[in-house]
Amino acid sequence: MLDGSKKLQCSRKISEKISEVITSGANSPGRLFRDVETPIIIADKAKGSIIQDVDGNEYIDYMMGLGPNILGHSPDIVSSTLESQIKNGAVFGINCKYEYELASRLVNAVSHVDEIRFTCSGTEAVMTAIRVARAYTNRPYILKFRGGYHGHSDGLLTHATKSAVRNNPLSMRDGIADVVRNATLMSRYNDETMVCEIFKENGANIAAVIVEPVATNMGLILPDVSFLGALRKCCDEAGAVLIFDEVVSGFRCSYGAVSDELGVIPDLTTFGKVIGGGLPVGAYGGRRELMKQVGTNGGVFQGGSFAGNPLTMVAGVAALDELSSGHLLDNTKLLVEYFCQRTREKFEAYGIPFGIQSYGTMATYIFNSDMKSLRNFDDVELQNSDLFAKFHRRMAERGVLFAPTIEEPIFFSTVHTKEQIDLTVDLSVEILSSII
Ligand SMILES: Cc1ncc(COP(=O)(O)O)c(C=O)c1O
Repeated sequence: MLDGSKKLQCSRKISEKISEVITSGANSPGRLFRDVETPIIIADKAKGSIIQDVDGNEYIDYMMGLGPNILGHSPDIVSSTLESQIKNGAVFGINCKYEYELASRLVNAVSHVDEIRFTCSGTEAVMTAIRVARAYTNRPYILKFRGGYHGHSDGLLTHATKSAVRNNPLSMRDGIADVVRNATLMSRYNDETMVCEIFKENGANIAAVIVEPVATNMGLILPDVSFLGALRKCCDEAGAVLIFDEVVSGFRCSYGAVSDELGVIPDLTTFGKVIGGGLPVGAYGGRRELMKQVGTNGGVFQGGSFAGNPLTMVAGVAALDELSSGHLLDNTKLLVEYFCQRTREKFEAYGIPFGIQSYGTMATYIFNSDMKSLRNFDDVELQNSDLFAKFHRRMAERGVLFAPTIEEPIFFSTVHTKEQIDLTVDLSVEILSSII
């Protein structure tokens, strides 16, 4: 049990020390556990589907590094590749063959991607894809969706409500020039009428629409394919660039991009997380005609000391090769369906008035008894976040760790087991029955 004093003693002490030297006590705000009653947990190590904190408590982990660890923590296939690469150099400053290896896998797996560039984070990938779109169209505006998070570059923090900063939304505003903020237009996810209206008024000035084809930063929201189709149509008619942000969904839902699964094809796609095998990474790619804006061929600059570094590249290649047959992802998707089905059945049997929705290897609870599904960020905000805060703590006390915010999905990996799923569902029912 995490009684908040004894079993998390080391976590608390280290957290206090961190706060003395790391501003606000974390390098990323979600780690402060502000949205949940659970005290801050400090990680020690992790393997497979289990993460262990510095007090020695173990948890079935449904964060999976917030997405990257599709093969679980520290998969042997990736670790052994890294062990041998680290002896042969971690960063060269000149090209290495592994950049080709990973890039060619991405190009081969995603239909519209002729060329790709690597960055060190999803943030940089999205930021640069937008730069490409602006260069290509010579227009200033981008259109994004409320609740959509695409990294922390200036123009993308607008309307990127993150629960970790909900109590202080200004913390996402300061330091951003009005001219940048005002160049970001905002619409509602799954609302094609609103998008069409915005295009009617501003189409001639819109460089790009940036959207997750499956929204993974407002719980987990499935798109209406007609909504994505409307985005495609509006962009085509106005001459704007459609960018799909698949930093989370890419290679996690199937081997490749969600766009190919859904049959709506963007002009550019951003990747990250899974494609680095657990190491820091980002990538953006698309049609050659657009990508040739970048580098010596065009006027768009992007570089980076660690972009395409050999460690990330070999880790990414090892992870993608493990996933490429599709079996592991297919099995995990079946497990997620089983998790959802069992949750629904048990919730109904025990009178718990909530639902669950999933896509690929991710899922989200619906903590609102009036809603059958979540369709946009307005719905996400109408959930019972106080209940989630309690639920999170009780689950952690019993050894199940979800992301400490209702806005992140439940992330599964290929190494979660049916027994772990059964345990998680049973615990969720027991705990929710006692707190609702
Ligand atoms: C959809 C999406 N895009 C971009 C990013 C930014 O990626 P990174 O954290 O690697 O900068 C994230 C991060 O969670 C994300 O969820």
